[in-house]
Amino acid sequence: MASKSLRQATTGRERASEHEGFLRYQGYKWLKIALIISGIALLIYAFNDVQPKPNGGSIYGYVTGTIGVGLILWLTMLGVRKRQITPGRWSLKSWTSAHVYLGLSLIVIATLHTGFDLGWNVHTLAYVLMMLVIASGIFGIAAYASLPQALSANRGETTQLQMLDNLRMLDRQLNEAAQPLDAEGAAIVQMALHDDPFGGGIIARLTGRYGKCGTRAALAAVRAHPSRGEAQADPLDHVEVLLERKRSSLSRIRKHLRLKALLEVWLYIHVPLTFALIAALFVHIVAVFYYW
Ligand code: HEM
Repeated sequence: MASKSLRQATTGRERASEHEGFLRYQGYKWLKIALIISGIALLIYAFNDVQPKPNGGSIYGYVTGTIGVGLILWLTMLGVRKRQITPGRWSLKSWTSAHVYLGLSLIVIATLHTGFDLGWNVHTLAYVLMMLVIASGIFGIAAYASLPQALSANRGETTQLQMLDNLRMLDRQLNEAAQPLDAEGAAIVQMALHDDPFGGGIIARLTGRYGKCGTRAALAAVRAHPSRGEAQADPLDHVEVLLERKRSSLSRIRKHLRLKALLEVWLYIHVPLTFALIAALFVHIVAVFYYW
């Protein structure tokens, strides 16, 4: 009985830890480690009697510099680790948790390493690139924390495929509704039929603003049409209803695409800047030893 309840408690705990996000992983273990490392670096800097205060060229600078480079190279390894499956203590969740907090600790370690001695040179370039990588990482964390809920709230019970099917169905209905129209009315419907939910480029995808939306233009044209309100059974009334449905369906799918793009876009900054950082770091180290 006791062993059964122990087993239940254990599996319950395991299940809870499976569902624990990487930020809270193992009771913020990596946050604590990162705070300890940053705290030690700060204390040594603050209580260092050397005047002027140490910069990259001091013993303190060499130690923080070596730790910084080691950390940056290890943080970069997440790209390799992500593509392998190994559960356990060094699970991907543990790696990502360590990546985030140790990555943030670089703000303290690298800033103290510079000794606040910044200028227009390759050393500062490496520092700025590192800060940009970290800033994009913070954006990524914010995106992971907030966007999945927004994504499922917008999507409701439907899948992306169902949203696209719905759009195709509305296009078919619009095509049929255009049959009794005159040439001018048919041209208005055509504007909406040529709308591509994926078109508009990366800026439209990220901002959700589609300036050249044919459906919106068609809806405005149909509403302003001079024949509106003249006949009892105006075929344009049905077209307007369908266009309104298509506009709302398009706005839902575009919101979906926008949220998905925001979930990924930061990695297109984070990863290339990481490589630029490693290149600048290499030049920084060579320059330091060359001019030594
Ligand atoms: C200089 C410091 C950093 C470097 C060099 C670095 C580098 C990298 C690299 C190479 C990847 C793998 C991307 C891929 O292959 O898809 C990655 C992923 C990631 N980085 Fe960083 N990073 C740094 C700091 C940070 C910080 C401070 C944060 C958060 C505050 C962060 C958040 C993330 C996250 C969440 C992922 C995982 C993305 C995923 O699971 O798809 N990074 N980073």
